[in-house]
Amino acid sequence: MELLQGIETRKSIRGFKSTPVPEDTIRNILQLAGRSPSYTNTQPWEVAVVMGKKRDELSAILYGLANSGVPANPDTPTPASWPVELDKRAKEHGARRFNSLGIERHDAAARNELRLMNFKFFGAPCALFLFMDGSLGPWSTFDMGLFTQSLALAAHGVGLGTCPQALLAHYPDAVREFLGLSKDRKLVLGVSLGYPDPAAKLNTYQSTRMNVEDFARWWK
Ligand SMILES: Cc1cc2nc3c(=O)[nH]c(=O)nc-3n(C[C@H](O)[C@H](O)[C@H](O)COP(=O)(O)O)c2cc1C
Repeated sequence: MELLQGIETRKSIRGFKSTPVPEDTIRNILQLAGRSPSYTNTQPWEVAVVMGKKRDELSAILYGLANSGVPANPDTPTPASWPVELDKRAKEHGARRFNSLGIERHDAAARNELRLMNFKFFGAPCALFLFMDGSLGPWSTFDMGLFTQSLALAAHGVGLGTCPQALLAHYPDAVREFLGLSKDRKLVLGVSLGYPDPAAKLNTYQSTRMNVEDFARWWK
């Protein structure tokens, strides 16, 4: 796939086939993602690849916590509010997504069901949990974002889909305990990975973007 076409066509995938992803394929896209730039080449990323029986067990734990209303306790705090313009975009995103699924704005049960699907990795056979050293700050979180985008593009390039999910970082203590990791590993993000299911209604949703005129100003 051509690079620019890959950037243009990547989107978050929220419906996956159960077909397992070969380990070599995962290794290759992680190796490519590792080509991402980072602050003084520090490469803060640490990736837990969770698949097979372990995937099912961890999904059950996270789903159980979310479904029973255990309050989220992410290592990176969820923003309490957004600047007006960003809040507008977030709300539009939510509304358009629910509309595309035929979910009414006030249908709390359907909205909750959609939220809970995050913890089933939207059916993906593989989940990646992205960690970094807990002493690191915003520049390293920035590097983690670059890694995540490279990962998404590399996956897309070989016909795989990804969904970056802050919700998968809502219960970091449970994830660390399950993986046998110590408290000083900071969970930044979870990413579902697998082959996109073209029949999944959730995948018909296409997010919008600002035009360049709306976010770039020129001085010349
Ligand atoms: C840091 C981050 C956290 C996200 N968390 C979630 C999430 O928890 N669940 C989800 O379904 N999508 C999540 N997304 C996906 C965004 O909703 C998506 O990237 C955005 O709407 C743009 O759509 P696109 O990725 O399809 O282009 C997240 C994306 C990012 C970058």
